[in-house]
Amino acid sequence: AMIRGHPVSLGLLLLLIHSAQGHYAQKLLNDLMENYSSALRPVDDTDRALNVTLQVTLSQIKDMDERNQVLIAYLWIRQTWHDAYLKWNKEDYDGLDVIHIPSSLVWRPDLVLYNKADDDFSGPMDTNVRLRYNGEITWDAPAITKSSCVVDVSYFPFDSQECNLTFGSWTYNGNQVDIIMGMDSGDLSDFVENVEWECRGMPATKNVIMYGCCSDPYPDITYTVLLQRRSSFYIFNLLLPCFLISFLAPLGFYLPADSGEKVSLGVTVLLALTVFQLMVAESMPPSESVPLIGKYYIATMTMVTASTSLTIFIMNIHFCGVEAKPVPHWAKVLIIDYMSKICFVYEVGENCASPLPQGPTVTFGPCVFCTHGSGFAGMDTKLVRNVEYIANCFREQRATCAKGAEWKKIAKVMDRFFMWIFFIMVFLMSILIIGKAP
Ligand SMILES: *[C@@H]1O[C@H](CO)[C@@H](O)[C@H](O)[C@H]1NC(C)=O
Ligand SMILES: *[C@@H]1O[C@H](CO)[C@@H](O)[C@H](O)[C@H]1NC(C)=O
Ligand SMILES: *[C@@H]1O[C@H](CO)[C@@H](O)[C@H](O)[C@H]1NC(C)=O
Repeated sequence: AMIRGHPVSLGLLLLLIHSAQGHYAQKLLNDLMENYSSALRPVDDTDRALNVTLQVTLSQIKDMDERNQVLIAYLWIRQTWHDAYLKWNKEDYDGLDVIHIPSSLVWRPDLVLYNKADDDFSGPMDTNVRLRYNGEITWDAPAITKSSCVVDVSYFPFDSQECNLTFGSWTYNGNQVDIIMGMDSGDLSDFVENVEWECRGMPATKNVIMYGCCSDPYPDITYTVLLQRRSSFYIFNLLLPCFLISFLAPLGFYLPADSGEKVSLGVTVLLALTVFQLMVAESMPPSESVPLIGKYYIATMTMVTASTSLTIFIMNIHFCGVEAKPVPHWAKVLIIDYMSKICFVYEVGENCASPLPQGPTVTFGPCVFCTHGSGFAGMDTKLVRNVEYIANCFREQRATCAKGAEWKKIAKVMDRFFMWIFFIMVFLMSILIIGKAP
């Protein structure tokens, strides 16, 4: 019976202890709260400061709003202090050394986030506090903070940001409530990685501000959240498309003028770039510092505009036609002789298979029929004159054709020349922007 009864009595004993503790806890709370006021700073000596130890854990970065300059973070805030009136003797309460009670029952330091950017001024959450027999109170409270943060987007999308979270007592000065850093930095051990931002650390500094000449000190603790943007999203969605589109702009020079699409290609490219630029501008604060990517867009758009205008000029040259003046000599020498060799332009239609084999060329002397007088003596002079007229016409037509072809060739050489120039420009600009990335 004894062996069987043993577990039963043990259970009973445990239950007894438990109920005894519950009973003691009740009594303890009644005793503690009998003459306690949560309104007053709980110190024995009112001349001494109450030390509050602050420790902040960054759990998550919920959002970084660049446009409104607000950082939304999920924090766990731990405050520890000693309450001079909430002490008890462990032995009097059956060894009870820790109780958890609602935080609204005890005095709490009024630590607030100074650079709060929230519209609602609700206080911290009413979570429980942990009260030890020696009066030490530990209060853990989760908080979603909206803090203002000066966002500098000049290096977007390769930027890094520093956001300050400043905590201080709202009403007490440093001689009444002193804040002490729990650790040298914010705790990141429970940090949930953010998709856009990488957290590089969270150093803490304590500042003591004296307002006026001889007044009281106001201590605060500033946590600086160091954030580095993960730029791959922006590289793939904003930079790479712009990069590819901008390579189309020089190709506009390569397009044959007779297709009539040269200018519309330039305008289309310009429109596409405008769309991307608007997308960037929408998410950036309207500040004076233009982000790096914005500068790239502007430079690319300037280049495309220049190339389109140049195309229009070159088109004019291309369609000079038969009424035009002959090509000036210097242009012939400079463009047709030298530049065409530099730009590898050989013949007007050279990139469409080999030129057609030329038929036997019939050359007419200035006056075929009239020189050898005797053989054609019987010929009608009228017929001779007519044939001569036809020959002259033919000669003239060939000459104008050649003139038109010369202008066309000049247009082509210039096209090719600017194509290379703009290719090099696009390339250099892209190198420059990538070089700025850290
Ligand atoms: C609370 O105050 C009353 C009256 O001032 C006093 O009689 C009583 O002993 C006090 N209780 C405790 C626990 O200090
Ligand atoms: C608060 O801390 C300072 C030193 O950091 C110490 O001198 C002071 O006595 C502490 N105050 C209390 C009430 O313990
Ligand atoms: C953030 O806090 C640090 C430390 O107090 C200070 O040096 C820095 O200037 C602050 N930055 C901003 C933007 O206020």
